[in-house]
Amino acid sequence: MKAILLAGGKGTRLRPLTLHTPKPIVPVFDRAFLNYQIDLVRTVPEIDEIVLSLNYQPRRIQEVLGEGGDGGPRISYVVEPSPLGTGGAIKYATGADTGTVVVFNGDVMTQVNLGDVVRLHRERRAKATIVLTPVDNPSEYGLVETDADGNVRRFLEKPGPNDVTCDTINAGIYVLEPETFDRIPKDTASSIERAFFPSLVERQEAFVAFVYHGYWIDIGTPEKYLQVHRDIMDRRFLAEPFAAQPRGAQVLGRDVRIEDGASVEGPCYVGDRTVLKAGARVLPYSVVGRDCILEEGAVIDASIVWPNGRVSRDAALRNAIVGRHCHIGRDVVVEAGTILGDKSSVTDHSRLGAGL
Ligand code: GDD
Ligand code: MG
Repeated sequence: MKAILLAGGKGTRLRPLTLHTPKPIVPVFDRAFLNYQIDLVRTVPEIDEIVLSLNYQPRRIQEVLGEGGDGGPRISYVVEPSPLGTGGAIKYATGADTGTVVVFNGDVMTQVNLGDVVRLHRERRAKATIVLTPVDNPSEYGLVETDADGNVRRFLEKPGPNDVTCDTINAGIYVLEPETFDRIPKDTASSIERAFFPSLVERQEAFVAFVYHGYWIDIGTPEKYLQVHRDIMDRRFLAEPFAAQPRGAQVLGRDVRIEDGASVEGPCYVGDRTVLKAGARVLPYSVVGRDCILEEGAVIDASIVWPNGRVSRDAALRNAIVGRHCHIGRDVVVEAGTILGDKSSVTDHSRLGAGL
């Protein structure tokens, strides 16, 4: 069975982080995000091929994720000639295959039991099975109403406030039968959410819901991106590199150098080869990528620093996200939700987000 991971979006809401790093390989700790989904797909032995459906910076993604191997499912890549939307992308990636496919939105993280979803799909002889999750703000997602037997009765993408009739939304995970794809137009953009799913409801086809109450998040915004790191560090979501760690752990990569007088307070993560000079401090809920240098007295507090950064003497990052290869000058303060793109250079004594 094939799993299709939809990873062609531009990640506009995560800009500037996604200007040079497409969303599927945005690092979560020091791992490309899509690896977490690949881990989940690998829990279903029946899935022998993972197709990544791409159109934005495909080569970068291919370089990072490779071909799979080591006994797991093979990874292959399909690049659309132009963005085909979620519907067109699924049809394009399926090609001439007629077997059941599992589809993932490439920006969701969850612990749903994928094997159970596939089993329900088979038992109910469904044409489509969709994972639903309850949320507080359904307007940002695809609202899905179901009946008492667990059939989908309505699918409404990004409903207005007056159309919110329940709290269950599309979690972005489907099991589909390609025989229904004849109604997705060929070679033109189309939306699985706005066209295909409503058409299944209209035709009263077997469209089944799998309601999941466990951990689920869409990492598509900076707030959610920070949140998923916190949830993994707090063990609310059991995932690498904290899955086997005690609460409040400091997870250090290989060859991290912590000089005398520097300190690391968990829960936090410091990547391979990063150096903390005397008096540098990494405080709770911080993530420092690999090959960074934190100079004397630098403070990283509840912030994420991507690889190859330098934080100079006595500079402080509080509640900030800093892209790759950034240079933060001496005595700088960066705080209050500031996001810096790759290669930003901040002049000594600057104050970002700190106000007057
Ligand atoms: N290959 C390809 N081509 N992939 C695409 C395209 C495209 O043209 N457009 C979007 N994608 C991918 C994105 O990369 C992402 O992984 C996924 O499809 C969903 O797109 P988003 O842009 O993240 O949509 P959303 O978050 O607003 O809404 C979707 O996800 C919600 C759950 O997080 C919808 O499916 C909602 O119904 C759902 O609730
Ligand atoms: Mg999304």
